Amino acid sequence: MAKIFITGGAGFIGSTASERLLKEGHDIVTIDNFNDYYDPKLKAENVRIVKEAAEKYGRSYELIRGDVRDREVMAKIFATHQFDVVIAWAANAGVRPSIDDPYFYMDVNIMGLTNLLECMRQRDVKKLVFISSSSVYGNNKKVPFSEKDAVDHPISPYAASKKSGELLCFTYHSLFNIDIHCLRYFTVYGPRQRPDLAINKFTRLMLEGKPIPMFGDGTTSRDYTYVDDIVDGTLRSMYYLLKNDDVYDIFNLGGSHPISLKALIEVISKELNIVPEIEELPMQPGDVNITYSDFSHAQEVLDYNPKVRIEEGIHHFVEWYKKVNNYD
Ligand SMILES: NC(=O)c1ccc[n+]([C@@H]2O[C@H](COP(=O)([O-])OP(=O)(O)OC[C@H]3O[C@@H](n4cnc5c(N)ncnc54)[C@H](O)[C@@H]3O)[C@@H](O)[C@H]2O)c1
Repeated sequence: MAKIFITGGAGFIGSTASERLLKEGHDIVTIDNFNDYYDPKLKAENVRIVKEAAEKYGRSYELIRGDVRDREVMAKIFATHQFDVVIAWAANAGVRPSIDDPYFYMDVNIMGLTNLLECMRQRDVKKLVFISSSSVYGNNKKVPFSEKDAVDHPISPYAASKKSGELLCFTYHSLFNIDIHCLRYFTVYGPRQRPDLAINKFTRLMLEGKPIPMFGDGTTSRDYTYVDDIVDGTLRSMYYLLKNDDVYDIFNLGGSHPISLKALIEVISKELNIVPEIEELPMQPGDVNITYSDFSHAQEVLDYNPKVRIEEGIHHFVEWYKKVNNYD
């Protein structure tokens, strides 16, 4: 049993992982500021479900409504609890909005992480899973993307902030022996997915009979990764850190089956049995052409093996979406 501190535990991935962590017998303290990037009611509902899981499995779950940048609040949390490991999900996610408000992205994603690492240093907490992103690869020409590839050309402030986070993590590992994994997630989807992400947005528009905005000619592709596979990889990373010392490493967590935007729209359309009208729009700045993970490093070290194919994952997502939006 471990005592785990989670940042961003009310969000899509943090809440899904929390349920699994409680099920596996761990106790959780989490901080989330319930920001309004998307409807905070969705986050409250995520937390309600996680609390139910804590009761069901007889584990302790404490939610603190606060900001990772708040030095006083964070210092108090670390003074009150002795954590075995930390998982850092809290961030401003989203590529396009980071171009409009880079100050905010840098503030949360870099200053927030600095505050977390300082608390860990001061309270001698030695294990961190930091959630990074495939966006650090920018428009990498070589596919699939490997952790060995240079990632010096991020094309959005969001991507630059995640790459900076990885650098900051290395600095704290090197100076203070904090063991760290940086996990580069490749587009995550599944029940509770953020409403701003394509699969959620397209499903909503199709069900409402509205046209689907398609940025570019539909040939851009993404390596979509089902949330249960991502959670599995993240927990494997946490268990590895708990067992091993003197670690700093970076892992791709993807599905390794990129599909084009056009094909994605077709999969959703087939699942919903709706033929949508498609509105072709210019490519958006900050959007990359392709993401494609080589996850052999995670496979080798963590025994990470994603299982859910896109058709099955979309089926689960649509089932969830219809249920929570009363479509059936
Ligand atoms: N969803 C994806 O496809 C994807 C891909 C790559 C990386 N990631 C990363 O995974 C993490 C989780 O993403 P998600 O899709 O679950 O997003 P999410 O927005 O649902 O979850 C993030 C949570 O962090 C909280 N948060 C944000 N700023 C905070 C702050 N200053 N203090 C405290 N809490 C704060 C939010 O309220 C939210 O609940 C993020 O770091 C994101 O960058 C996600």
